[in-house]
Amino acid sequence: MSHSAFKRAGVFDSGAGGLTVVKSLMERRLFDEIIYYGDTARVPYGPKDPTTIIRYALEALEFFKNFDIDLMITACNSVSAHALQELRAKAEFPVYGVIEPGIMALKNAQLPLSSRILVLGTKATIKSGRYQEGIKKLGYSYVEAIAPSLFVPIVEEGVFKGKILESALDYYLKEYREPDAIILGCTHFPLIADAIVNYFDNRPISIHSGKAIAEYLERNGFEPDIKNRTKLRIFASENPDGLKQIAKKWL
Ligand code: DGL
Repeated sequence: MSHSAFKRAGVFDSGAGGLTVVKSLMERRLFDEIIYYGDTARVPYGPKDPTTIIRYALEALEFFKNFDIDLMITACNSVSAHALQELRAKAEFPVYGVIEPGIMALKNAQLPLSSRILVLGTKATIKSGRYQEGIKKLGYSYVEAIAPSLFVPIVEEGVFKGKILESALDYYLKEYREPDAIILGCTHFPLIADAIVNYFDNRPISIHSGKAIAEYLERNGFEPDIKNRTKLRIFASENPDGLKQIAKKWL
């Protein structure tokens, strides 16, 4: 089925991180317009309880009611892990998360089932077990998952290389030897993807939520319109100008 009538997407994230997903969506030119809403007043969601994440996500849904969006994408992995069901029950448009697309991207990479898969995400995402269950259902039995929480503030600080990042990589990853694939299950991690992948001598493949959701939408009938540049409008629950500045740097 073609979804060519779908043209305005609402993209929700806990803060700035979801701009990594916006970047992929804009590159693929799947929409005429993206309305981005970052809950910058309450970021981070990763350490929060599922009930709080659900409440915040439903508030974001209210926000999007002002914009006549055709679909909503929860760029935030923590929201995708905990609030999709509740969002779908209340929304009048389709709601897409990033976890299933990430799992499908791993499937499409066609690695042998003996491969070692390492999932990185926030505490909320890892505790939900969503990635781990989905990956095991594909037939992979060697699945490890960790929450390298310090990566989020490091990326927010704009530290993409150097000693601080190297120490954090070592702190979290030193026990993990040679994964074949790494799931970058957090909006912020694509920005340090090279450092994460290069930490391992065997250079595992990495799965990026933004690329995964863009590919997933295309496979599900959303057609890119290469002539049409996507217009981006950015909103935030606090300091929208700060978010716009970050968008200028990251996009
Ligand atoms: N956006 C969050 C995620 O992808 C990371 C930042 C946060 O903890 O809010 O899970």
